[in-house]
Amino acid sequence: MGMLLHPTASRHVRRTLSNVLMSRRERLVSSSDFKNSYLVKNVEKETTFVKGVGLTPDIGLHLMTPDMSIWHKKAEMSRSTSIFQEDPYWAIYWPGGQALARYVLDNPYLVAGKRILDLGCGSGACAIAAAVAGAGGAGNSVTANDVDPVALAAAALNASNNGVEITLLEGDFLGHVDFLSANFDVMLVGDLCFDQDLARRVLSLGSEFVSRGGRVLLGDPGRWVLNSETKDENRLKCVAKYELPTEVVSQNSGLVNGMVYAVGESEIKI
Ligand SMILES: C[S@@+](CC[C@H](N)C(=O)[O-])C[C@H]1O[C@@H](n2cnc3c(N)ncnc32)[C@H](O)[C@@H]1O
Repeated sequence: MGMLLHPTASRHVRRTLSNVLMSRRERLVSSSDFKNSYLVKNVEKETTFVKGVGLTPDIGLHLMTPDMSIWHKKAEMSRSTSIFQEDPYWAIYWPGGQALARYVLDNPYLVAGKRILDLGCGSGACAIAAAVAGAGGAGNSVTANDVDPVALAAAALNASNNGVEITLLEGDFLGHVDFLSANFDVMLVGDLCFDQDLARRVLSLGSEFVSRGGRVLLGDPGRWVLNSETKDENRLKCVAKYELPTEVVSQNSGLVNGMVYAVGESEIKI
């Protein structure tokens, strides 16, 4: 597992991450190396820059779009090209992520000046929304995390296109609540409840993170895993509900709304 850090990451976060890296014998790669990397250049080359659509028309992202031939290819065929070897979740702006990014932009006080982690960042849209809304500062930066290094390349490229800087963190940190609560105040989770096992791990991490004083905001478009029982068990409070724009509905059959939930809070307080 590699680890990628932006040069503006605070010394504290760098030191903490370095300790994690050393303890797990992982690799530290500077983002300036990454910025000119094969991955970033390929994300740029093989995607379309999309702006002005969805719930956050103000944020532009490199995405796979219906006018690209790869959109219509079967998954196995799409994996034959260099950057689409794994399922390219990062190349889609998921409706749960759109709702969460919109909510963050509309409620900047929730993130301003805070240390933010965008868990399972994909394209990096929620991290970018947090940075645009004034998160970070005072030596802290907004951090985007994903298990897929291509997602981090896309997030880096997208951050730069939106005029913000973010820190990139690669790997699966769902079992590392000590590390996460020591380094972040708010965790943003965009559309990670599409899979039952992943949702169970994310919700368990979210509850523990909140019990240690953090805040977790989760965007979801009504995936079946988040039924009323799961919501009650994990104390999910719906804090916003958005109507998805027509083009988003047409690409996500059956989903018409994007919800934002706060984990373990009866109301959102400033
Ligand atoms: C459905 S996409 C959502 C992307 C983005 N948050 C959005 O809303 O547009 C899920 C993302 O989570 C990432 N992911 C899956 N399991 C993960 C894990 N254990 N830790 C971090 N990221 C993970 C995937 O690689 C993918 O980019």
